[in-house]
Amino acid sequence: MSEAGALRGASRREFLGTAARLGAGAATASVLPLIAAGRADAAKPRRAAGASATESVTGDASLGAHGVAHGLLYGCAVNMNALAADAAYAALVREQCRIVVAENAMKWGSLRPSAEGFRFDEADALVAFAEANWMKIRGHNLVWHQSNPKWLDATATKENARELLVTHIETVAGRYAGRMHSWDVVNEAIRVEDGRADGLRNSLWLRLIGEDYIELAFQTAREADPQALLTYNEYGIEEETRAGEQKREAVIEMLRRMVARRVPVDAVGVQSHIAAAATASGSQTADSQYAAGLMRFIAAARELGLQVFITEMDVNDRALAAEIAGRDAAVAAAYKQYLELALGDPAVKAVLTWGITDRYTWLGHEEGRADGKPERPLLFDAAGKAKASFYAVRDAFDQRGQKSYLSG
Ligand code: XIL
Repeated sequence: MSEAGALRGASRREFLGTAARLGAGAATASVLPLIAAGRADAAKPRRAAGASATESVTGDASLGAHGVAHGLLYGCAVNMNALAADAAYAALVREQCRIVVAENAMKWGSLRPSAEGFRFDEADALVAFAEANWMKIRGHNLVWHQSNPKWLDATATKENARELLVTHIETVAGRYAGRMHSWDVVNEAIRVEDGRADGLRNSLWLRLIGEDYIELAFQTAREADPQALLTYNEYGIEEETRAGEQKREAVIEMLRRMVARRVPVDAVGVQSHIAAAATASGSQTADSQYAAGLMRFIAAARELGLQVFITEMDVNDRALAAEIAGRDAAVAAAYKQYLELALGDPAVKAVLTWGITDRYTWLGHEEGRADGKPERPLLFDAAGKAKASFYAVRDAFDQRGQKSYLSG
């Protein structure tokens, strides 16, 4: 069994034990040395990217610190099994992140074992971990076409769907009200291929409630948690392709209609699951893969008064040859080009990667690399060492304000 598989099998008792240990006292105590370490780092001279193995990447040298210095929240999606079982992983998240999001723990599939019941142990553990370490929290997500429990498909009807959706949002967003930075209220509602003029995906919620399920979800979330920034989150709007352009147009049109109708939407999440290009340096192709279309989208969102979050970034290396140094360089180049571009717009306020170490990534489980080798899509390697992509992201943060798409 793979390590990830072994972790998925970690017993519930083990998990709950660790969750209890993550109570405020213990976690706060463990954070104090980190703060002290941060101060010590500040006194050391900075080194350029490229970096020896011994260079600190924590404290003032962390992504969290570099992000904040440029008006950005950096964070990552957290795997709750790993957080419970792997102390080095927990330390890495604590050291680097100013914001966290549950990779799965706040989805319907995790929270709703049955139609009547809610199960909050993992979601609560994430919130406790974040608060004990002064991190902000994104909620992900309240409405999606995936990760829905089987009972939902079997029991939801046109008659009860509105109530099911409203009760879920009131209960979940209400539980954490006042403590969330933002909520992904609706995830991935556009699918142009489904053939509707408005581009809406033919999902369970669309079929049962109709197109105003989106408005219903945002209104209910606003009432349940007036402080969270309510976000529409989407994938497939990054690439400079015809499909990307069609999807961008459909998403912006939907957001425009929402704003015109005073639906309470505050932000748009650009997932940013991107791919490294198969050139030697990665540079030229990546430049044209992610370019003006993405920037037009971000600018259009800004003009609608929305903030923009990069919510789930990772860089898959499927197109690249196996050799590790070359792969890591191309993945780093893709991070740098994409972020330098996107961060040129002041509407972008947060960057989250979908995981932080290659030890735990959702990639590779379904369609991985053709050679079967583990993908290296994140910022730290499986042993917890910062890769070229870490320095690339940090450099992109540092470039912010110096190299602006808007002024250039
Ligand atoms: C993924 C998780 O990473 C996996 O562990 C899970 O099996 C499926 O969902 N877009 C999203 C995320 O909005 O919720 C998805 O997360 C990745 C794609």
